[in-house]
Amino acid sequence: MSDTVRIFEVGPRDGLQNEKTPIGVADRIAFIEALLDAGLHTIEVGAFVSPKAIPQMVNSDQVLRGISHRKDGEFGVLVPNEKGYEAAHAAGAREIAVFAAASESFSRANINCSIAESIARFKPVMTRATADGIKVRGYVSCVLGCPYEGEIKPEAVVNLAKTLWDLGCYEVSLGDTIGVGTPLKSRQLLRAVAGAVPIAKLAMHFHDTYGQALANLYAGMEEGARVIDSAAGGLGGCPFAPGATGNVATEDVVYMLEGMGIETGVDMTKLVAATNQISGLIGRAPASRVAAALNAKR
Ligand code: HMG
Ligand code: MG
Repeated sequence: MSDTVRIFEVGPRDGLQNEKTPIGVADRIAFIEALLDAGLHTIEVGAFVSPKAIPQMVNSDQVLRGISHRKDGEFGVLVPNEKGYEAAHAAGAREIAVFAAASESFSRANINCSIAESIARFKPVMTRATADGIKVRGYVSCVLGCPYEGEIKPEAVVNLAKTLWDLGCYEVSLGDTIGVGTPLKSRQLLRAVAGAVPIAKLAMHFHDTYGQALANLYAGMEEGARVIDSAAGGLGGCPFAPGATGNVATEDVVYMLEGMGIETGVDMTKLVAATNQISGLIGRAPASRVAAALNAKR
């Protein structure tokens, strides 16, 4: 498997959205700049969502305006509706992500509408983004299980991924929101979805609640998937997904890929330093095993 993998860093968004300690704009910008310096180029930097739903993402406009917008960087933000779109566009977003769920209960808990209603909300967002030359990514949550409904049928994931792809999303990210997936199921799911969306356009967004995320990623890579969402330090979680912990850690993904002969261009020392900085602000040691191992050697 010696080829290239796209790492989509979600630490500044997914990583911080569920933290009790609020992280201010300057520290969020410093985190993003440190990730860029470490060699990560595709970074989700915030969310234009209701401040009542996710207070941690308040001032995402200031974050987006404050980062250095290096030529080699791509910066995404979450947008749930037209109101969010307008704010993201006004703040200069060049890439946004709409997010739906394969489970009705999670859709209701997370964005207060049914799956069909969420798609209806995304349609005008897609039209406006296309007219404004803004790239749109699509998320499907609960692809391997739902905190409220338990098992989710793969067909529900396939249909929703196809809907987002047909709407014009350039990539569809499959979220194991509560980190319950296992390798064989992950691989089977990717194979099923790849019947509707090209495998090269599918991202694996695996939370690590049950410690399976790296194994699931490897299984997905065997199936041909080459886009990985991860968060520095293994930060992450969603307040509407009870019991879920962080995303797979970027350090752990980079270590695995480099061990497979896949160059990531990431400077591990700088990445761990970025993680340590944000972990210090949050007041918790990083969940990343690689960060912990390297910190123990210092
Ligand atoms: P709602 O209450 O149904 O919305 O929420 P509404 O249209 O009735 O508006 C209610 C209030 O929210 C109004 O303000 C609106 O102006 C405001 P009020 O009059 O009460 O003062 N509002 C907004 N404010 C700022 N930005 C907006 C916006 N829209 C309305 N865009 C809504 C519906 C979708 C807005 C809400 O439920 C929401 O913001 N949810 C976001 C939840 C979220 O961000 N979850 C975490 C991200 S998803 C995730 O983590 C999963 C993922 O990582 C993949 C995976 O792991 O599976 C992506
Ligand atoms: Mg997530």
